Amino acid sequence: MVQQYDAIAVRDADIERVMGPYRKRVEMPSLLRALGPVEGACVLDVGCGSGEYTRMLRRQGASQVVEVDVSAPMVAEARRAEEREPVGVRYEVHDFATLPVLGEFSAAVAVAVLHYADNRRTLARMCERICANLAPSGRLLALVGNPQRPTDIPLANGFLVHRPMHIRDADTYTISVPTLPPTALHVHYWACRTLEDVLLSSGFADVVREPLQGLADGDGGDEPVNLLLSARKG
Ligand SMILES: C[S@@+](CC[C@H](N)C(=O)[O-])C[C@H]1O[C@@H](n2cnc3c(N)ncnc32)[C@H](O)[C@@H]1O
Repeated sequence: MVQQYDAIAVRDADIERVMGPYRKRVEMPSLLRALGPVEGACVLDVGCGSGEYTRMLRRQGASQVVEVDVSAPMVAEARRAEEREPVGVRYEVHDFATLPVLGEFSAAVAVAVLHYADNRRTLARMCERICANLAPSGRLLALVGNPQRPTDIPLANGFLVHRPMHIRDADTYTISVPTLPPTALHVHYWACRTLEDVLLSSGFADVVREPLQGLADGDGGDEPVNLLLSARKG
């Protein structure tokens, strides 16, 4: 998995070209609405990639944003973006399944990252380490792969999920992004119920599915590519 993103870092701009419009229209406004006022917040971005969300949160007024990612090349991409346009973000390379306590954050965001856990123990460790970094009542907002997204039906932007029949928790499936050449991402299936159970046993409470706003024709109807989960440190 580490190698997967180390190699993909060079395609980051092309992935953003394909996915950026959906992220700006649907994912970012939905996450901001669910998060509530960001002004003055202290936010941890886990699995930050090249830091699109991190910089967006800082521009929205978060007083401190720390981003962590297991892939050094992805963090290097984020640092280059910071050099081009400094917003004041701290970047660290960590596997968040073993993340030390970096602070007492009011919120954590995990965008398109929990589905990289390849077994339930790792998924639980990821959730526990996020929880350990939150202040009392701190929130986690997680965009996760939608386990109900129908297989082999492309979205308007060409994004395609290919999932074997009878898939079970932790099984691998493939996401295809129509970059040039196409990028295949190998991720793991987690049922909503499992995600909820793991969050609850990792120190979170009030796990809810937040609405996605801004969805348009071609975004997958009732089963878009991802779901937005919110949880509060219990
Ligand atoms: C699909 S990208 C999403 C990046 C970013 N959140 C965004 O939406 O722009 C997934 C990222 O998660 C990172 N990742 C996967 N597993 C991780 C782990 N165990 N610890 C930290 N980062 C991880 C990958 O290196 C990759 O950068």
